[in-house]
Amino acid sequence: MTFSCKPFYILRGNAIDILTNLQTKVDCVITSPAYYLQRTYGTSSCELGRESSVAEYIDNLVDVFKAIPLEPWGSIWVNIGDKRGKQGELLGIPERFCIAMNDAGFYRIDNAIWAKESVRIDGTSVGQAMIEPAKRRLNGNGHEPFYRFVLDPRQAWSDTCAVRIPRRNVGDIRYLPDTLMRCHTSLEGRNLTNVWNIPMGQTKESHYAVFPSALIERPVAMTCPLEITAEGPKHRIVEMVPYEEARPSSRGIGRYTKPEDETRTKSGRQDTGRQYVPRKPVTMGWEPDLPAIRRGIVLDPFCGTATSGEVALKLGRHFIGIELYENNVKIAEDRCRQAHLLRREYEARNPMKASTASFDEALNDTMPDEVQFRFDFDAGVPWEEAS
Ligand SMILES: C[S@@+](CC[C@H](N)C(=O)[O-])C[C@H]1O[C@@H](n2cnc3c(N)ncnc32)[C@H](O)[C@@H]1O
Repeated sequence: MTFSCKPFYILRGNAIDILTNLQTKVDCVITSPAYYLQRTYGTSSCELGRESSVAEYIDNLVDVFKAIPLEPWGSIWVNIGDKRGKQGELLGIPERFCIAMNDAGFYRIDNAIWAKESVRIDGTSVGQAMIEPAKRRLNGNGHEPFYRFVLDPRQAWSDTCAVRIPRRNVGDIRYLPDTLMRCHTSLEGRNLTNVWNIPMGQTKESHYAVFPSALIERPVAMTCPLEITAEGPKHRIVEMVPYEEARPSSRGIGRYTKPEDETRTKSGRQDTGRQYVPRKPVTMGWEPDLPAIRRGIVLDPFCGTATSGEVALKLGRHFIGIELYENNVKIAEDRCRQAHLLRREYEARNPMKASTASFDEALNDTMPDEVQFRFDFDAGVPWEEAS
């Protein structure tokens, strides 16, 4: 199997400058921008997060998202943290950012919480947050928001089956094996809720504020289509099918056997009195039934060491990362290259199930060089040479 174009690009420079010249449309954006006055990554005056006011920071950030050439079905995931003022008060940066994105025409449709540590009623906890000795308030490091914005809620591409969670008495069908995706998934399981317990990220390299890769897996699987056809991305066709494995008394997602009104009128009962039939989503196929012309592309405009790239490539997508500093670019390229090789090995051992007759051919042999720029950016070592 060969790829005729580089499966990833790490572009060095200021995100807004590169984006205004980016010709390639992307399907999904997953990023954690530099937080406001949190840390310094280098000496460039273009570095985000060094602005003199919160308003200026938010304006600059929203301008970056407005400049992204996003497909109409695209999603933008943003992990953003708050900052405290002189009195210890929260500045409300995530909230202000959401309002500004809304004003810029983006709809926020998912509001996930990255829980680093959550505490049970008995005082035991799941995970571990950084300690924060504060006399008059709580340790504020327990969670961070992870928002999903879209251009059009009805058109936004979502494959919720890819991230469903195991259901009692129903065997798991994982979206991908744990060598490629650590988050446990079950295609016919329950709809995923929006609080995710995930330990903080670590890399061997000296970069602060890295994403944990498990945080990125679900957004990639759920909102970046794997295959794009001439008529847009392929959608999973799902049918809700009754399943026998569920115990008769158990309640869950499902439907009643008769229309509600009919049962009420006949029986005079206020409850429905109908038998509950649990149903699970079963994949029937994919549409449109057309050959894929390219893979879905994930973009991270503040990619750092490219955790989002590593995950995108392991999950079979392509990746464009933008990063201001050369040392991070080098680490990012290395991580992406290794992730791509892992995926390539996996696909060689497990030929992808063809959703169209020409799937393999389209994705692996005739991939057009989709990524084009008006200027010649230094995209690093040529892919073929490096691998
Ligand atoms: C929070 S870190 C991202 C870490 C990344 N998620 C990871 O897993 O490694 C933010 C990154 O944005 C970069 N950055 C800051 N300002 C930038 C700008 N104007 N254009 C491009 N990158 C920028 C920083 O150098 C830093 O690596």
